Amino acid sequence: MCGIVGYSGQKNSLMILLDGLRRLEYRGYDSSGIAIKDNDKIYNRKAVGEIKELEAKIGDKQIEGNVGIAHTRWATHGTPTEANAHPHCDCQGKIWLVHNGIIENHQKLKKQLQKEGHKFSSETDTEVVAHLIEKYYQGDLAQALKKSLHDIEGAYSFVAFHKDEPSRLVAVKKGSPLVLGLAEDGVIVASDVTAIIKQTRDVIYLEDEEIVDINGSNFDIFNLANEYKKKKAMYVDWSIEQLEKNGYPHFMLKEICGQPETVTDSLRGRLVAEEGNVKLGGLDNIAKELNDMKDLISVACGTAYYACLVGEYMLEEYADLSTKSIVGSEFRYRKYCFNKNSVILGVSQSGETADTLTAIKEANKKYITTLGIVNVVSSSVARATTAGIYNHIGPEIAVASTKAFTSQLVTLSLLTVYLGRIRNMSFPMGQRIVQELEKLQEKISKVLENEEKIAGIAKKYYQVPNFAFLGRKYNYPIALEGALKLKEISYIHAEGFAGGEIKHGSLALIDKNFPSIFLVPEDSVYEKNLGNIQEIKARGGNVIAITTEGNKEVAGIVDEVIYIPKTLEMLTPILSVIPLQLFAYHMAVIKGKDVDKPRNLAKSVTVE
Ligand code: F6R
Repeated sequence: MCGIVGYSGQKNSLMILLDGLRRLEYRGYDSSGIAIKDNDKIYNRKAVGEIKELEAKIGDKQIEGNVGIAHTRWATHGTPTEANAHPHCDCQGKIWLVHNGIIENHQKLKKQLQKEGHKFSSETDTEVVAHLIEKYYQGDLAQALKKSLHDIEGAYSFVAFHKDEPSRLVAVKKGSPLVLGLAEDGVIVASDVTAIIKQTRDVIYLEDEEIVDINGSNFDIFNLANEYKKKKAMYVDWSIEQLEKNGYPHFMLKEICGQPETVTDSLRGRLVAEEGNVKLGGLDNIAKELNDMKDLISVACGTAYYACLVGEYMLEEYADLSTKSIVGSEFRYRKYCFNKNSVILGVSQSGETADTLTAIKEANKKYITTLGIVNVVSSSVARATTAGIYNHIGPEIAVASTKAFTSQLVTLSLLTVYLGRIRNMSFPMGQRIVQELEKLQEKISKVLENEEKIAGIAKKYYQVPNFAFLGRKYNYPIALEGALKLKEISYIHAEGFAGGEIKHGSLALIDKNFPSIFLVPEDSVYEKNLGNIQEIKARGGNVIAITTEGNKEVAGIVDEVIYIPKTLEMLTPILSVIPLQLFAYHMAVIKGKDVDKPRNLAKSVTVE
């Protein structure tokens, strides 16, 4: 979603701001802008489209100024135009501000401010806040911002400066992330740690309703009651290389091909084969709650939700645990029958997805134990949950989630062993799963050897407008995920089905122009899947099958086969999803789509 960068320090701010914006590009945006205090003037430029358009507008103009703010906007209120791009300012052009989130009561506030004589120049909800601050300003920006917050309803993070307060930047957050980077030469504030780590690895995550008052390298953090907050900086160990493409044409391909390593990173130090068990230090503080747990409710969105669906099969089959998955955006609006032994699990790569976070907060209000599977360390979901497991896979940059998904599956299988072993799972069963997890790196590398073949299949099928994805049991959620990947980056219509469900209506779609991708590994539902493939073939439909190495039977019936190595049934999704990721990737490349930044989408959806 939108990105924020702000800097106050000894260096020239322009390069720091532009570098930060470029590193936030992956989140998705449609316009951008900067405002820098250049002595007693404000330098402001905005552009629609990519950051390079903004850079072109700036040209080689020398801009002095050690304090500035910048923004990438993803349109919510008002179309993507220069007028609507941030930063926004008040009537006198003195107060400049960038904002992420949504001001829900902006229309009412705007009407009131217009009545009081304020003149607006954009259609955004953000501009309202610049005028509100103007209304309350009496020589102290932090106090004026704080007063404005009393009038505002919604989720936000803001960074603002006032022309007459030389090196001061003021920022605040509620429901939308904001991180401070403590560099030697100054302080950088951003919506995402990726915009910071070139300058410093020492960061502080702000909590809701904390205000940070920055003056060069000095800063103070307060809450709304003016109480001073002492916060410890933490060290981010992501490397710059992890933020670059390293020779790959797209981040998505780099992330798909990096899965042998990222899966290993998620397993590192956690497998204890000799005990047929796993070690998950992040769960130690809720060992008793997990022991007493009667049911687990997973909450997540999109791809992470599909990981939870696979987790349901794992946890029910191997940990004897009643498990249910709920889409984050639905959680708040349904009545669920929790009991004091329920546990809520939030799964989120970014840890900032508003729908997932809101669900966790709702569960916290009901005193239900919450745990998280999160990639971004110290992100909002990580902080809102009582305990958790980190993915440890470094930043995921491509909008379409790939390495995070396989890591979520691996982490859910670790959780299955952990919970299974404190219930009925035998030592040999625990050991079997652990030993199979140890072999994943090698098996994923084997699946990746199919890339050229998959690119060839994509070449044959790229003009087809519709696809069905089918699978049963553990691979049913993988059918849903395969369809989502194809839709989001190649804009081809695709639907995922449970293999046995298609004959209850959707089979009517199938003809020679409507191909199916069928997940048919040799597992407990293999024979049933074969029957469904025959039904599709009998209607003239083409079938691309993902099956187990060495299988000849499937190859005899279908049009194309992609092989994956044999593994435990519960772990097959970790292998079977990879050909679908590669297929979606190559379809999008052939169709000339913007693979890493698909239209209309944002990497981290921080609004409900
Ligand atoms: C799809 C995709 C999204 C995310 C979803 C949740 O490729 O990336 O569906 O999985 O928005 O995001 P996180 O995991 O950050 O909560």
